[in-house]
Amino acid sequence: MTDVAANSTDSLTVRDNRTGQEYDIPITDGTINAKDLGQIRTGDDQPGLATYDPGFVNTASCRSAVTYIDGDKGILEYRGYPIEQLAEKSSFLEVAYLLIHGALPTKDEMDAWVHEITYHTFVHENVKSFMEGFRYDAHPMGMLMASVGALSTFYPDARNIKDADNRHMQIVRMIAKMPTLGAWSFRHAQGKPFIYPDNDLSYTANFLSMLFKMSEKKYGADERLVKALDVLFILHADHEQNCSTNAVRSVGSSEVDPYSAVAAGVAALYGPLHGGANEAVLRMLRRIGSTSEIPAFIEGVKNGNEKLMGFGHRVYKNYDPRAKIIKKSAEDVFEVTGTNPLLDIAKELEKIALEDDYFVQRKLYPNVDFYSGLIYEAFQFPPEMFTVLFAIGRTPGWLAQWLELVQDKEQKIARPKQIYTGDRQLTFVPASERWA
Ligand code: CMC
Repeated sequence: MTDVAANSTDSLTVRDNRTGQEYDIPITDGTINAKDLGQIRTGDDQPGLATYDPGFVNTASCRSAVTYIDGDKGILEYRGYPIEQLAEKSSFLEVAYLLIHGALPTKDEMDAWVHEITYHTFVHENVKSFMEGFRYDAHPMGMLMASVGALSTFYPDARNIKDADNRHMQIVRMIAKMPTLGAWSFRHAQGKPFIYPDNDLSYTANFLSMLFKMSEKKYGADERLVKALDVLFILHADHEQNCSTNAVRSVGSSEVDPYSAVAAGVAALYGPLHGGANEAVLRMLRRIGSTSEIPAFIEGVKNGNEKLMGFGHRVYKNYDPRAKIIKKSAEDVFEVTGTNPLLDIAKELEKIALEDDYFVQRKLYPNVDFYSGLIYEAFQFPPEMFTVLFAIGRTPGWLAQWLELVQDKEQKIARPKQIYTGDRQLTFVPASERWA
């Protein structure tokens, strides 16, 4: 027996039936180190055993102290603080500070942080010209992705990722400029002039001003709407190793600048399997049309005709804690904007589904997207903007994870293995002979 974990009960004994040999593999933090499997081989010249895990469904890619999720219990915490408390009592910029720095700010630290972010909201005028160059109907997520990537050319010093002050500067810039780029992506499709940031306003109020201001001297959004959007940003701020965060970490592992790494995160979020489900919920609710049609719709879902969009989650096998908070926010928003009949359909649909055996047995509960599209619609955002809002909220999370990655001595350039399934050792015949 190869004694990797001598005298330890925290180990896994593996017997290789090809050779009859046994191996003790240490278990740490509920995982085995995949490298330890490499010693399991049928001969010295044979490759070591590896794991096959498309989509990383059971593989930890890093150690992280940023976000904790317990999907069975419906728990989400940023740096140990429950999402419910942060959504109710904190602000998006304070949560951003918490994610990046790992602890809540003192009053002076918070003042300095808000000041820094506020005074970096402007972008170089050439970024504006660059964005004006997109086609009239460009998707705002495509514009955002390209513009974030383009920032790397405006801040070439960002390449110096080993320097802590430099990293901080780029983090501040990115959190500050995302709303500006997001708002301008929205205005472009509408043929409206780009609105410069208003540094007298809070982070979220300024974003609303850049989105909706016209000829008025100052744009004053309803405080209840500002609060609701701020809460939505908080709820989206991080979600541990999801597809876009994994993209940021994977690209960041090449030691590229953070703008390029975050542009990869925006690209991943652009995909309908990640950032786009809330739009599908709205389409579904519209199609159902009235509460009397819900039983027939549910029957169709149970017969496998379609999915109940906004329900179910890979990680949450209980109520997604974010969905509960969003449901409450939706009610607050509708007090200001007037109700949306789709909310009644959504609530009734949720009630019926949660009492139905099909959904109960499969542990299918509302997820973050079930109510968020309704809120975004109340703000009069077109569906293409929903994912841009998600990206603005997720930026501090991406950056906190990137910061953790670049300081983590265990991390290496991301380079998964493959199982090769193609041909081998073919003899090349030149085109002149093949086509003769
Ligand atoms: N409606 C009806 N049945 C469902 C649904 C649903 N929304 N979700 C899962 N199921 C069924 C599925 O058919 C399967 O049934 P069976 O065991 O009979 O084959 C069972 O539940 C297990 O589902 P799964 O597909 O193995 O679960 P998954 O973890 O691979 O998928 C999911 C998770 C989110 C992709 C899926 O639940 C889904 O497609 N939901 C609808 C889309 C949606 O709301 N997406 C937003 C996710 S939250 C965004 C975020 O956090 O970033």
